[in-house]
Amino acid sequence: MKKIALGIIGLATVATLAACGNANASSSSQLDKVKKAGVLKVALSPDYPPFEFQMIKNGKNAIVGSDVDLANAIGKKLGVKVQIESMDFNNVLASLTTGKADIAISGISKTPSREKSVNFSNVYYSSDNYLVVKKSDLNKYTSLSDFKGKKIAAQKGSIQEGIVTSQLKGAAEIALPQIGDEINEIKGGQVQGAVIEELIAKSYVAANPDLAISKVTLKMPKDSYGSAVALPKGSSELTKVVNSVIKEQLKNGQIDKDIQKNYALSEANK
Ligand code: ARG
Repeated sequence: MKKIALGIIGLATVATLAACGNANASSSSQLDKVKKAGVLKVALSPDYPPFEFQMIKNGKNAIVGSDVDLANAIGKKLGVKVQIESMDFNNVLASLTTGKADIAISGISKTPSREKSVNFSNVYYSSDNYLVVKKSDLNKYTSLSDFKGKKIAAQKGSIQEGIVTSQLKGAAEIALPQIGDEINEIKGGQVQGAVIEELIAKSYVAANPDLAISKVTLKMPKDSYGSAVALPKGSSELTKVVNSVIKEQLKNGQIDKDIQKNYALSEANK
C-alpha cells in the first residue's frame, strides 16, 4: 500500500516538474508571441464604466475606459498595437486559455481561486460593492436581512455572485451576463436589487434616475484583492512588463487620472 502511495507521489512530482517546464517555456514565448505578432489582444466586457464602456466617438461606436487606457500604455511599452476583444465577462478569463486574447483587463478582481488558472499583475484599483435598488424601494431595505426572499442579481462569473450568496442570506441569486441586464431587471421588477462595484453602480444610477444605491452596506470579501490584469498562466515575462507599467502609473497618479477622466466621459455620454 505504502509503495503504491509513494509511486503515485513520484509520478505527481514528475508531472509537476513537467508542468513547470512548460510554464517557463510558454512564459517567454507569450511575450515573444505578442511582440512578433505586433498586436496585443486584450479581453474585456465593455459594460463597466469608467473602466470599460461603449460610447459614440466621431459618429462611430467605440470602446473606451481607464482599462483601455492602461491597455494602450502596455501596448506602447511593448511597441505593439492594441486590439480589443469584446465579450461577456463570463468569457473573459477563459479567453486567455483558448488564446482568443493575450491579456485581460476588465476590472477583474484578483482572487486565490482564479490564481490557480491565470497569472495576475499587481492590483491597480480597489473599491467597495453597493446594492442598487429601485429608488421607490429605498426605504424598504434597512438591513441585509430585509433582502430575505428577494431576488438579487450579480454579473455571471463575477465575485459579486459570491457576495450575494454569502452576505445576502435567504435571497435568491440571479446571475446575468451583462450589467445592463441587471439594471433592466431592477427597473422591470424581475429582481429587487443587484450587487455592483462602487463607481459602476454610481455611473448606472446617474443614468437611471429611477434607481438608487441602498444604504445597506456590504463587506469586502476576504478572498478578493482588488482589480488586476490577468494573463495566461506562466506568462511571467509579460506579467513583469505589465507590472512595470502599473507601478509607474500608480506612482505618477495616471491610473486615478484616467478613472476620473473616463467617469466624466461616461456621465457626458448619457
Ligand atoms: N470585479 C468583478 C470580478 O472580477 C467584476 C468585474 C466585471 N467586469 C466587467 N467588465 N464587467 O469578478
